[in-house]
Amino acid sequence: MCGIVGYIGKKQASNILIEGLKKLEYRGYDSAGIAVLDNDILVYKQPGKVVNLEESIDEKVVGKTIGIAHTRWATHGEPTVENAHPHKSNNQEIVLVHNGIIENYKFLKDELLDHGFTFLGQTDTEVLVNYIQYIQDKDQSTIDVAVRKALQNVNGAYALAIIDKKEPNKMVVTRKGSPLAIGLTGTNDEFYVASDAIPIIEHTQSLVYLNDNDVVVLERGQQMKVTDIYGVEKQYKVKTLDLNLDKVSKGDYEHYMLKEIFEQPSTIKNTLFSHLNTENSNIHFENLDELKEKLVKASRIIIVSCGTSWHAGIVGEYIIEELARIPVEVEYASEFRYRNPIITKDDIVMAISQSGETADTLAALRYSKAQGATTFCVCNVFNSSMARECDFTAYTYAGAEIGVASTKAFTAQVAVVSLLAIQLGLERNEITQERANSLVEEIKTLPSVVNHIFNIDDHIKSVAKNYIKTTSFLFLGRGINFPIALEGALKLKEISYIHAEGYPAAEMKHGPIAMIEESLPTVIIATNNEYYDKLVSNAQEVKARKGPIIAVVNEDDSEMIHTADFVFKVPRVSDMLQPIVAVLPLQLFSYHVAVLKGCNVDQPRNLAKSVTVE
Ligand code: F6R
Repeated sequence: MCGIVGYIGKKQASNILIEGLKKLEYRGYDSAGIAVLDNDILVYKQPGKVVNLEESIDEKVVGKTIGIAHTRWATHGEPTVENAHPHKSNNQEIVLVHNGIIENYKFLKDELLDHGFTFLGQTDTEVLVNYIQYIQDKDQSTIDVAVRKALQNVNGAYALAIIDKKEPNKMVVTRKGSPLAIGLTGTNDEFYVASDAIPIIEHTQSLVYLNDNDVVVLERGQQMKVTDIYGVEKQYKVKTLDLNLDKVSKGDYEHYMLKEIFEQPSTIKNTLFSHLNTENSNIHFENLDELKEKLVKASRIIIVSCGTSWHAGIVGEYIIEELARIPVEVEYASEFRYRNPIITKDDIVMAISQSGETADTLAALRYSKAQGATTFCVCNVFNSSMARECDFTAYTYAGAEIGVASTKAFTAQVAVVSLLAIQLGLERNEITQERANSLVEEIKTLPSVVNHIFNIDDHIKSVAKNYIKTTSFLFLGRGINFPIALEGALKLKEISYIHAEGYPAAEMKHGPIAMIEESLPTVIIATNNEYYDKLVSNAQEVKARKGPIIAVVNEDDSEMIHTADFVFKVPRVSDMLQPIVAVLPLQLFSYHVAVLKGCNVDQPRNLAKSVTVE
């Protein structure tokens, strides 16, 4: 959600900034801008994608070796040039990029208006850059001192990169609530800054992930210096990554989303085999030993998450309760954090998050930790804020997910939660070793089962052609496939802008059935062994009202194929594995509908990956 890049060194900054922004574009694409500096500050900004910005840049940037850049997901103010970052202060000397929200910006703006400041746009960021100028003017201080003092009066979330014309060899960066990393090159003459590691890793694999309230001064010829907002010096840790840029390119695929869907056999495999002992197939979560007893004795597991990860949480609820018999509650992180929930020290609060940075989920975790709960996260990004702050992290090994719509992260989350449920079931004597072994053996077949499903991709695409003019869809599922109905609906609506709702199949009669008519297709997930007959009855109820049906069925299906207009056939697997198997055709269906409609599937309108604001 908004991406920041910064560079200070000997190379031409604009190239590094633009390339960096392209890699962060998944965080927002309402507008983009850069500022570079030597004797003067040059600012370029454009509404829309980074490519618009790139076209607007002229030869004046040549030879400028310090700069900051931003790709925006609009919070305050429309995506206009005025509201695009970087923002300059009234005296044209300080320039700043910001990811986050300044909550008390109105209060600060009133103060600045009283002192004669003027504003070009509506953003909270423009207020902040002027507030820093105001403090600097008053105290006649350096930029870092002014930033620290200003931040003492700022409420909200931010990652900031700031440069000041008066100190052309210095950049100040800071974070609270929004992520920021610094790339070190082994010399004190060159530093990289970005919202995540991806723009940095082609230059250096040595990264420092900032903590909240870190204020960092990057100055040519000086070692990086970190303090808190009061100027007290802080230590920092340098992490050495082992990330390969090939893994984050689109390869031969037309879209990241398609590549990520097709990567699932290997991402599921990587995830499974990172937590399974290859010799004896025993489940093993690294570093969990200390917490195992707490987890095994937990009186309750509360899962907090958002969006697709929340759907993985509901799958987790079904599996953990079934196998480990621990009560599980699944909460929207955004509701949980504000509703004064009852949490005890015997609770485990588990966050599920691809990015590990989602503001609401992070806040829910912090709140739970403060109440004494043990915190746990299932996360895809190493060293993300959640991973660093939780008592324990079980990583999904899905690799960088660039498509804004989550696909491979979801199936990896479900894989991790399934292994965890089996292990807890065993430790709590709720399942036998034989049952655990047979579940693990079946889970190990998932990568090849998923691969097999891709054989119906062309069929799914041909079915999708029938629905590009459809305006509304209903998705139904029962039991462990109910969250897959929710996920199927979310995938379709977020990338094709077709209205879609997911429901437990039996709930249809309590309202949604009123909507059924010829123009409203229903997608029914009918792979459940136990509820199959009931799902067939639900399908009949839809058909009786002339509703078209697409059904996800097992390859040996005998009844639904006669009721549905189209079927997507998947291999028959046990209940626990059905969510992963059933979601695949729905991911592909959404993808094809959206592409056929001409939508930008990797960067759907209004969305951004990694929602670091509330
Ligand atoms: C939907 C999607 C979002 C995310 C949600 C949580 O395709 O990607 O709904 O699942 O924003 O993000 P994470 O998992 O990063 O916490």
